[in-house]
Amino acid sequence: MAKFSGKTALVTGASRGIGRAAALALAEGGAKVFVHYSQGVDEAEAVVNEIRSKGGEAEKFKADLSAANGPHELAEQVKKATSKLDILVANAGISKAASIEETRVEDFDRQFAVNVRAPFFLVQQLLPILSDASSVVLVSSLAARAAVGTLSAYAATKGAIDTLVKHFASALGERGIRVNAVAPGVVATDMSSFAKTDAGKDFTLSIQAMKRVAQPTDIAGAIAFLASDDAQWVTGDTLRVDGGSKL
Ligand SMILES: NC(=O)c1ccc[n+]([C@@H]2O[C@H](COP(=O)([O-])OP(=O)(O)OC[C@H]3O[C@@H](n4cnc5c(N)ncnc54)[C@H](OP(=O)(O)O)[C@@H]3O)[C@@H](O)[C@H]2O)c1
Repeated sequence: MAKFSGKTALVTGASRGIGRAAALALAEGGAKVFVHYSQGVDEAEAVVNEIRSKGGEAEKFKADLSAANGPHELAEQVKKATSKLDILVANAGISKAASIEETRVEDFDRQFAVNVRAPFFLVQQLLPILSDASSVVLVSSLAARAAVGTLSAYAATKGAIDTLVKHFASALGERGIRVNAVAPGVVATDMSSFAKTDAGKDFTLSIQAMKRVAQPTDIAGAIAFLASDDAQWVTGDTLRVDGGSKL
C-alpha cells in the first residue's frame, strides 16, 4: 500500500520550489494534497493538475500569509474541505538579503510574519483537525546555524522555527502529533536564484561536502520521510538537509 494512502496533507507555498516538490512527493505516496499558494494561481493549478493526471487527489487554496489573519483564513478553507488533517508542511517563506545597516523595519517584520507568525498560527488554527499520529513539518534553514550571506533577519526567523519545533513537539506529543523541521542549505529555487549563476554556484559548492547544487526534490524526500510513519519516533528535531554544508 502507498505510504500516505488515506492521508490528507496541506503544503503551504506549494506553487513553486520546495513546497511544490513536497506536494508532488506526498501525492506520489498516495496522500490527498491541499496545495496552498498566494500569488501563483497558475503555478498552483499546474501542481493540482499534475497530481490529478497521475490519479491523485488535490485542491488549491489561496491565502496571503503575510497578513495577520492569513493563517486563520487558510485554516478555515482547510476545515471546510476536511475534518481530519494528517500532514502539515508549513513551507511558505520569504527572504530578503540585506546587511545589518540596510535592513528596513518593514522587511524585517514581513519576514517574521510569513516565516514565523504564519506557521505558528496555522498550527494553532489546525489543531482541532490534526489527527492522532499526525506530522507537522516546518522549514528551517542552514542560515539558522551558520552565517551565510547578508541574511541576519531571515536567519533569525529560521532560528525561531528551530525553537518552535521543540516547544510544539513537547506540547503536542501527548496527542501523538510529531513536529519537526528540515533545514536546507542552498537550493536552486526562485528564492536562491543566485545559485543559478556561475559565481553563486561556485560559492555554494565551496561550502558543501557534496559538489552539486541541491534541487527541490532533494529536500522533498526528507520532508516526506518526516511526514511518514518511518519517522514515527522522531519529534522535536531539525534535520539538516544540506549536502553537508558548513561542516
Ligand atoms: N531555496 C533555498 O535556498 C532555501 C534554503 C533554506 C530554506 N529555504 C526555505 O524553504 C522554504 C521554501 O523556499 P523556496 O526556495 O521553495 O522558495 P520559493 O521558490 O521562492 O517559493 C516560495 C513559496 O512561498 C510562497 N509565499 C511567498 N510569500 C507568501 C505569502 N505572503 N503568503 C503565502 N505564501 C507565500 C510562494 O507562493 P506564491 O508564489 O503563490 O505567492 C511560494 O509558493 C522557505 O521557507 C525558505 O525559507 C529555502
